[in-house]
Amino acid sequence: MKKIVIASIAAMALSTVAMAEVNGKVCASCHGQHFEKKALGKSNVVQGLPAEEVAMRLKGYKHGTYGGAMKSVMKGQIGKYSDEEIDAFAKTINTMY
Ligand code: HEC
Repeated sequence: MKKIVIASIAAMALSTVAMAEVNGKVCASCHGQHFEKKALGKSNVVQGLPAEEVAMRLKGYKHGTYGGAMKSVMKGQIGKYSDEEIDAFAKTINTMY
């Protein structure tokens, strides 16, 4: 029993380390502080999009199923995050609008 408890605590610690929050601050250089700009003059304005839509597009960039001519730029931004991290970030994005 003790061993199981120790093992699960270790597993939890590991998953906490592996979990990285999407850093929304780095987005501002292209999308604006409140996601009010067209990134590099090319993207749609993200401000005002519902969280599910943001999550869908970000995961689309990661998996190569969404995007326009400059989708590789966004793949570089978001590709390192898990789908769960993207979902969690998308739920908080309207606090930045
Ligand atoms: C180096 C500039 C740059 C940075 C930094 C950047 N983006 Fe983008 N983003 C773009 C460009 C360019 C596009 C349009 C890509 C395309 O052609 O589909 C885009 C598109 C998007 C879209 C979809 C908008 C649409 O046109 O449908 C979302 C959502 C988005 N970015 C979110 C983010 C988030 C969140 C971050 C920070 C983690 C971020 N971006 C960082 C340049 C950037």
